[in-house]
Amino acid sequence: MVSLENRVVIVTGGGRGIGREHALYLAKHGALVVVNDLGGSSDGSGSDKSAAEEVVSEIVAAGGTAVSNTDSVTDFKGAKAIVETAIDAFGDLHAVINNAGILRDHMLVSMTEEDFDLVVAVHLKGTFAVSKFAAEYWRDQHKSGKTVDRAIVNTSSAAGLHGNVGQTNYSAAKAGIAAMTIVHAQELSRYSVRANCIAPIARTRMTLQTPGLSDVMEKAVFDPGNISPLVSYLTADGCPFNGQVFSVYGGSVGIYQGWSIAEEVGTDNSWTMDKFAEEMDKLPRSVKVNSQMAAIVKAATSS
Ligand SMILES: NC(=O)c1ccc[n+]([C@@H]2O[C@H](COP(=O)([O-])OP(=O)(O)OC[C@H]3O[C@@H](n4cnc5c(N)ncnc54)[C@H](O)[C@@H]3O)[C@@H](O)[C@H]2O)c1
Repeated sequence: MVSLENRVVIVTGGGRGIGREHALYLAKHGALVVVNDLGGSSDGSGSDKSAAEEVVSEIVAAGGTAVSNTDSVTDFKGAKAIVETAIDAFGDLHAVINNAGILRDHMLVSMTEEDFDLVVAVHLKGTFAVSKFAAEYWRDQHKSGKTVDRAIVNTSSAAGLHGNVGQTNYSAAKAGIAAMTIVHAQELSRYSVRANCIAPIARTRMTLQTPGLSDVMEKAVFDPGNISPLVSYLTADGCPFNGQVFSVYGGSVGIYQGWSIAEEVGTDNSWTMDKFAEEMDKLPRSVKVNSQMAAIVKAATSS
């Protein structure tokens, strides 16, 4: 059995959308939650402390335990403060759920430097920064003999794993998060830390602004709360998974195979252009992939 009882968990971007659901679900199942949220708009502009604070009030009113933090995950000192908030409030830290995110979609030709930098900062640097300060604490705890199950749950996207038009910045950051998860799983298992990643699709302000998706998202199964049980399972003490990326959308959960070599050609000698051209003709021009977005589009167009 897995357990969330008294697990101290940070949820970044926990004030709205999927992160808010994680925070509520975790608290309902006995976790002590740090709800972090900058509270800006979906393009990353502005800030509003009430986003995090209102979720904390909701948790406390329901009999749970939570504190807020309103630092930006892009700020290195802020990331450290998010981790310290957990340790100061609850005396330990068991898990980090890196979920904060923004969008600045543009085609490559019209994407600005700021669009690229800010999206990469929130997703990729933010995930790195909070995990880094948590890992420093976990390494020290492990060295002092405290071996407890700890966990990182990162948030990637189908856009990062399969690519998506108009999302050079977001897709690159999300692919980086999946890669970072695998590295962190490899590096941190020596300190009893597991790292896994999800690629969700759910009804939030992000997807409601995506052309063609908003109608499908109205289905109950795309409720953002439907993502939180998987994330909570990956966060819980006793979860056996490490270094994996999961798709979670519309009631389905899948485990990704990652980049893997589908077919190979080779030579025993040095390659020549002619030999290479001959061998490359034996490879398929592309390899079929099983993508959650393709499944959603297929279901939407056939219903
Ligand atoms: N909704 C989907 O279908 C979907 C699909 C793939 C991936 N995701 C990912 O799931 C995560 C949650 O997205 P969502 O759909 O709930 O969006 P959302 O906009 O509803 O929530 C994102 C939250 O992150 C917070 N945030 C943004 N920048 C921050 C910063 N610098 N520091 C702290 N908090 C910050 C926002 O204030 C907001 O509350 C994101 O990482 C997103 O990329 C969502």
